[in-house]
Order: sequence, then structure tokens, then C-alpha cells
Amino acid sequence: MPCNCCEITDSAFSEKEAKSQLRDYRRKGPAKQTRFILDAIRSLHLKNVALLDIGGGIGAIHHELLEDVAQSATHVDASSAYLREAKLEAARLGHTERVIFIHADFTDVEKELPKADVVTLDRVVCCYPDFRRLLEAASRHSQRAIALTYPREAWYLRMAWPVMNFFQQLRKDPFRVFLHPISEMDSLLKKEGFERVSVHDLFVWEMALYQRVAD
Ligand SMILES: C[S@@+](CC[C@H](N)C(=O)[O-])C[C@H]1O[C@@H](n2cnc3c(N)ncnc32)[C@H](O)[C@@H]1O
Repeated sequence: MPCNCCEITDSAFSEKEAKSQLRDYRRKGPAKQTRFILDAIRSLHLKNVALLDIGGGIGAIHHELLEDVAQSATHVDASSAYLREAKLEAARLGHTERVIFIHADFTDVEKELPKADVVTLDRVVCCYPDFRRLLEAASRHSQRAIALTYPREAWYLRMAWPVMNFFQQLRKDPFRVFLHPISEMDSLLKKEGFERVSVHDLFVWEMALYQRVAD
């Protein structure tokens, strides 16, 4: 039985959108904010890691990291359209045996999933109302690092966000975008045992890399 988040997300991330993203990825490679995540993880010089990509979309992060950093990947996504395209690309790259695909809200299935070394959330927290629930679950699963991107708290985004949600409401689409407070996400991850080791800003997105502090 799909969760409510999956139903909402399935309508927000259509097959057309997913196919178009995969075409872009094949033509141009990963998006800028995704490249920040890839560079940040590669800067840790890890090898053979188990990757957990939450809301991985068409799977750009595992397609890339399975080439040099990751041994295996789990891709949990609330969008079935994205997962279909991610699987197609994984098959084309010869990665099928190394990726587990799960269609679910991560917070609903996290207890059934093993821990990973590295957890990624690229443009995911802004699609999910309860950032605490999502990041606490992500933290529980990361043994070494978490890399995530989220919208910056810039004035132009503070103005744009309610407008986007207003149009969603007019369209009677239940999907909403969220500008979660960065300092609260940061405090949560620190409380969960991580330290922030790098941050990079684009116009809309910020990328932060967190590493688990040794006990
Ligand atoms: C804006 S898309 C980003 C996709 C991809 N990471 C990228 O940057 O291109 C947000 C993705 O997060 C997924 N998502 C949001 N909340 C989720 C949750 N709680 N569990 C699993 N997937 C989630 C959506 O299904 C969607 O694929």
C-alpha cells in the first residue's frame, strides 16, 4: 500500500519530468548541486562504501559513485516514475546487481533497512514537511557521512516559496515545497553526532557535507 507521501510525490514527479531529467543527465551529466555532493563525498577519499541515496530521483548520485567510491547502493524514492528511469540507467551502466531500489517514503521503511556508510539527500528535504523526522532517520542510517542539498534562506527564495505553493494550491495539487530553517537542520545533525565539514552555495541550492564525529 503506497504511503501518502508516495501518492503526493507520484503526482508531483511525473513520468514526463523523470524522462526529461534522464535525457538531461545523459547529455550534460549531473546537475551543479549534485556535482557539489559528488565532489564533497570524493573529498573524503572513501572506497567500497555502502551508499544510501534518499529521494535519488533518476539516480545520478549512485550512477556516478558506483564508478569509484561505492560498492553498493540503496535508492529509496517516493516517486515511481523517477525510480523507473533510475533503474533503466543503472541497467545501461551495468549496475543493476549493485543497486537496491525501494519505492517508499524513507521514514516509513527505515527500520527495515541496514545502515550505510554514506547517506545523500539531494533536493529532498524541501519536498518533505517534517525535516526532523527525515534527517533523524537519515542520521540513524549513516555510519560515516551525510551530504545534502536544500534551498538557501535567501530573500528571493523566501519571497518565491509562498508563491510556488499558492500556485500548487490553485492547481489543487497537494504537493508543497518547504524552506526549512538551515540552522535547525544543522543543530539536529550535530546533535545526531555529525560535524559540518563543508558548505557550498549556488543561487538556489546550498550543499552541506557532514561527517560522523569519532566516539
Ligand atoms: C526534487 S526531487 C530531487 C530528485 C534528485 N535527488 C535530484 O536532485 O534530481 C525530490 C525527490 O525526493 C523524493 N522524496 C521526497 N521525500 C521523500 C521521502 N520521505 N522518502 C523517499 N523519497 C522522498 C521524491 O520522490 C523525489 O524523487
